[in-house]
Amino acid sequence: MIQHEEIEKVENFWNEHLCGKQFVNEEIYTPAFFNEYRAFRYKKEHHLLEIINEYDSSNKDTLEIGLGVGADTTQWAAKSKSHTGIDLTDEAVYSTTKHLELLGLKGTIVKGSAEELPFKNESFDLVYSQGVLHHTDNIENTFSGIHRILRPDGEFIIMLYTKDSFNYWFRIQMYFRARMLAEIFKNKIGLKSNPTWAEHYQNFKKMGWKYLSWKEFPHHCTDGPSCTIANIYYKKEIIDLLAKHNLIVERTEKYHFPISSKHPKLERSLAKYLGFYRFYWGKKI
Ligand SMILES: C[S@@+](CC[C@H](N)C(=O)[O-])C[C@H]1O[C@@H](n2cnc3c(N)ncnc32)[C@H](O)[C@@H]1O
Repeated sequence: MIQHEEIEKVENFWNEHLCGKQFVNEEIYTPAFFNEYRAFRYKKEHHLLEIINEYDSSNKDTLEIGLGVGADTTQWAAKSKSHTGIDLTDEAVYSTTKHLELLGLKGTIVKGSAEELPFKNESFDLVYSQGVLHHTDNIENTFSGIHRILRPDGEFIIMLYTKDSFNYWFRIQMYFRARMLAEIFKNKIGLKSNPTWAEHYQNFKKMGWKYLSWKEFPHHCTDGPSCTIANIYYKKEIIDLLAKHNLIVERTEKYHFPISSKHPKLERSLAKYLGFYRFYWGKKI
């Protein structure tokens, strides 16, 4: 079932927090803003260009779900036969459309939800979605939609937060939880938290100890305290859920361990074991 209320909360969050804009100092939506963002992104997450470039889409109709500022959209639009992007928010749709326009690239950008993909059956050869589907209320709705809109033998490349990571066990469940307890104590004795922890504390005041529960707290510890849905999955859980919808995983790999981008080889080696997220490559059967 589609929970429109939950989707609306996610939409409001991402409309207010255009993904990536916090990393760039230039005036938003200017050529300098987009150039600086792409440079920052592909230096920090250097594997992304490799992942996109290794796929030959010159003869393929590709679909990207969840766009943010539209950096990856520009890569796909430059190389695919046709590229379509969909996002839940006006902000991301506007940003991505502008980004393509400024680089003189063609693409079809539409507003809509991953849980109700507004496309005809069997209309794409590849679905690419990086860091998005863990923000959906019901990921199975997205998997069944992806199966429906992929052509026979169509492929997918999907990135999701993974539980077998340093991020989940050490950073969120241990360090962030301990820090939250310290921040609660601090506030109780009249001291102030920094803006991020003040937001966590406001959430705690609204939700009580439930905020710190095993299930609830991680939602607020990846993309910001006011993010309402950020699920973190076990690899097997995702492989099984995709298989249930006849989407077969052929390869997976973990990426992203945030040490200095001056050491990409070391970063890649650590990320292989401890990485924050996992890419899944596979196809429709
Ligand atoms: C973390 S950002 C990732 C954006 C981009 N893929 C990137 O790597 O920068 C998540 C994006 O997914 C979009 N999003 C979240 N839930 C969605 C949904 N149910 N359907 C479509 N887009 C969604 C948000 O609006 C936001 O632009």
